[in-house]
Amino acid sequence: MATMTSLIGLINKIQRACTVLGDHGGEGLSLWEALPSVAVVGGQSSGKSSVLESVVGRDFLPRGSGIVTRRPLVLQLHKTEDGQQEYAEFLHTPRKRFTDFASVRKEISDETDRITGKTKQISNVPIHLSIYSPNVVNLTLIDLPGLTKVAVEGQSETIVEDIENMVRNYVEKPNCIILAISPANQDIATSDAIKLAKEVDPSGERTFGVLTKLDLMDKGTNAVDVLEGRQYRLQHPWVGIVNRSQADINKNVDMIVARKKESEYFETSPEYGHLAHKMGSEYLAKLLSQHLEIVIRQKIPSIIALINKTIDELNAELDLIGRPIAVDSGAQLYTILEMCRAFDKVFREHLD
Ligand code: GDP
Ligand code: NA
Ligand code: MG
Repeated sequence: MATMTSLIGLINKIQRACTVLGDHGGEGLSLWEALPSVAVVGGQSSGKSSVLESVVGRDFLPRGSGIVTRRPLVLQLHKTEDGQQEYAEFLHTPRKRFTDFASVRKEISDETDRITGKTKQISNVPIHLSIYSPNVVNLTLIDLPGLTKVAVEGQSETIVEDIENMVRNYVEKPNCIILAISPANQDIATSDAIKLAKEVDPSGERTFGVLTKLDLMDKGTNAVDVLEGRQYRLQHPWVGIVNRSQADINKNVDMIVARKKESEYFETSPEYGHLAHKMGSEYLAKLLSQHLEIVIRQKIPSIIALINKTIDELNAELDLIGRPIAVDSGAQLYTILEMCRAFDKVFREHLD
């Protein structure tokens, strides 16, 4: 467990370094793309934003009926030392620390509107948000607009394809882990999430099936066949979830209470009691970080190769402009080079 924390913590550091590299040259982006992230896919209002919030354990995303998520949200979680205060930072408002998560939600909405206006239109320009907290696992998560079937009033004719293309852009990357969200109160055979996931990840090695709204199923029906993989078989086990209902959201039911209710739901359920230990948001978060650790370990050799390539390129550039003596772009390059060397060293240690 400690190894995983340090390993993924390292990945987060590298991702930050890559942002610096990316700002400088563009070389950093390939390194960034070599690292895994987790994206949610599913129909509109299937519970994508709610699932992400549960994985994070914090209320901060705009949720609700209709098209609420209208820009991709790239969310980096950073685990900090116990006892530290939680805070959030946006890339578009550097150095401003948000400690009130209701204002994080408002800033996401406002920043969405800044690009799209208060419309039902979408934009593929992502919002970048980092959360620093002792209560998270280190992960990069991506919230995406929901897949739809028809353009509603105020939307362009092409919106259905536009959303699908945007989502596909994220989930077709081989290093994207897909949370395919399907609501339990709809037939799994009609799931947009499974349809797209199957298309971009036919072997299912990077797809996790998440079944939401178990509490909203018709009386007399249950999802045991889906959850036990008999209706649609996935490589990884299905995880059932009970998120907050719209009434809960309106009443401001908090995350801790919601999680407790969710555990109780599974533990006391006559249908799902035998599956209770493999259900719920906390279990999903655990499953995800275990999977990430495996994936990251497999990637270490190629990441080392990329870092070394960057070191060579930086060295070549420094040879051209000369080694720095003052604070200028040369000194900046030099710092990046030193960071890369340090990362390379730590990575090699992790390989043993
Ligand atoms: P998204 O559009 O896929 O991001 O879905 P949201 O997370 O915004 O949720 C859409 C609506 O469904 C909200 O009103 C949620 O409260 C509700 N919802 C999501 N998951 C569940 C669930 O498991 N049970 C219940 N009862 N409602 C849910
Ligand atoms: Na919604
Ligand atoms: Mg959403």
